[in-house]
Formats: sequence, C-alpha cells, structure tokens
Amino acid sequence: MSRRFLFVLGSSRSGGNTELLARHAAERPPADVPQEWIGLARHPLPDFEDVRHDSDHLRPTEGTAALLLDATLAATDIVIASPLYWYSVSAHTKRYLDHWSGWLRTPGLEFRREMAGRTLWGVTALAHEEREVADPLVGTLNNTAAYMRMRFGGVLLGNGSRPGDVLRDAGALGRAGTFFAQDAPLARFPYETALV
Ligand SMILES: Cc1cc2nc3c(=O)[nH]c(=O)nc-3n(C[C@H](O)[C@H](O)[C@H](O)COP(=O)(O)O)c2cc1C
Repeated sequence: MSRRFLFVLGSSRSGGNTELLARHAAERPPADVPQEWIGLARHPLPDFEDVRHDSDHLRPTEGTAALLLDATLAATDIVIASPLYWYSVSAHTKRYLDHWSGWLRTPGLEFRREMAGRTLWGVTALAHEEREVADPLVGTLNNTAAYMRMRFGGVLLGNGSRPGDVLRDAGALGRAGTFFAQDAPLARFPYETALV
C-alpha cells in the first residue's frame, strides 16, 4: 500500500489554529505523498449508535460515514487534527473515533486488522501555555493507536486562542517542520512500556 495521509480536522471552526499548524506541518511530509483533508464540522457524522451487542453494524454506503470510512481505509497515515477542548479531543473528533467502534464490528471489514501497522498522528492547538494539560488528549490518541496495533507518531502541540495565534508560536512551527519525518514506533499502552 503506497503512503497516503488523511487529515481529519476536528475543530468547530475552519481556518483555526489546529488547521493552520497541521497545514504548516503538512508542507513537509515525505515528498509526493498524497494528502486528503476532511473537516468534520463541514462533514458532520451522525451520532454513533452502539448496537455492537444486539446486531451487526452495517457498512455505511453513503453519506459522511461512508466518506470517512473509505478515506480512513485508503490512508496509511491518519492525522487527528483536533483542538484541545476540555483537555481532550473535540466532540467532532471523538464522534469520529466512536465510529471506529462500529467499524470494528462491521462484518467483512476487518477494520482492526486493516489498521494494524498504519500510523496515527495528532496535531492540536491549545490556549494554555503549559503543554502538559494536553496529556489526556495525548493519552487518548496513544491508547487508541495501541488498541488498534497502530504506530503512533505523537502529537504536535501549538499555542493559541484566536485563529492565527499559533503562527506566533515559533517553537510549534519549528517542530512542525520535521514532525512527519519522525519515527513512529508501534504504540504501547502505558502499562506495557512500564514493564520494559
Ligand atoms: C469548547 C472549548 C473548550 C476548550 N478547552 C480548552 C482546554 O481545555 N484547554 C485549553 O488550553 N484551551 C481550551 N480551549 C481553547 C482552544 O483550545 C483554543 O482556542 C484553540 O486555539 C482552538 O483551536 P482552533 O483554532 O483550531 O479551533 C477550548 C476552546 C473551546 C471552544
């Protein structure tokens, strides 16, 4: 499978700091790697309904769920570009990840096997200056990747409140320059790394 990036934009506004930072980083991924960008506010997913233990989930064939499923399956690298909302991912982003639970239980999809070995990345903007307040978001993405047996490239963090603020965060812009060139090891749950 040739390399392909999917950027999933989770902000409730377009052109915000998270998207600006993600676009900055995306100018420097490995050359000639195709990118697809999907904004969840423009393409809202339906609420996730958990029928896992009552019936099979059906593969979506139309609408945003089908768009996102097909884009996810087509990508080797999935970038969750979510602002920090209440110390974690935005509701749009969380709903996208909730849909993964349905795709895991969709007969014929083999979603977990398909995703194993692919890479999950995060990009987030936050108003707080102290970056450790984003630990819950980082943990969510790391553990999601570990559960899915994916690689995890980490989270690119940038500071800002009003749109455009992040472009004054020189540290974030510097990190963006090499972010997607980083090694992305297989993700591990914290209890697994504690044993090593
Ligand atoms: C609903 C909501 C929750 C937020 N929660 C946090 C938070 O927990 N910590 C923080 O530092 N900033 C928080 N912020 C500020 C945003 O992270 C910040 O404005 C960021 O730049 C927004 O990213 P965007 O421009 O990509 O939308 C919150 C903003 C909103 C609208």
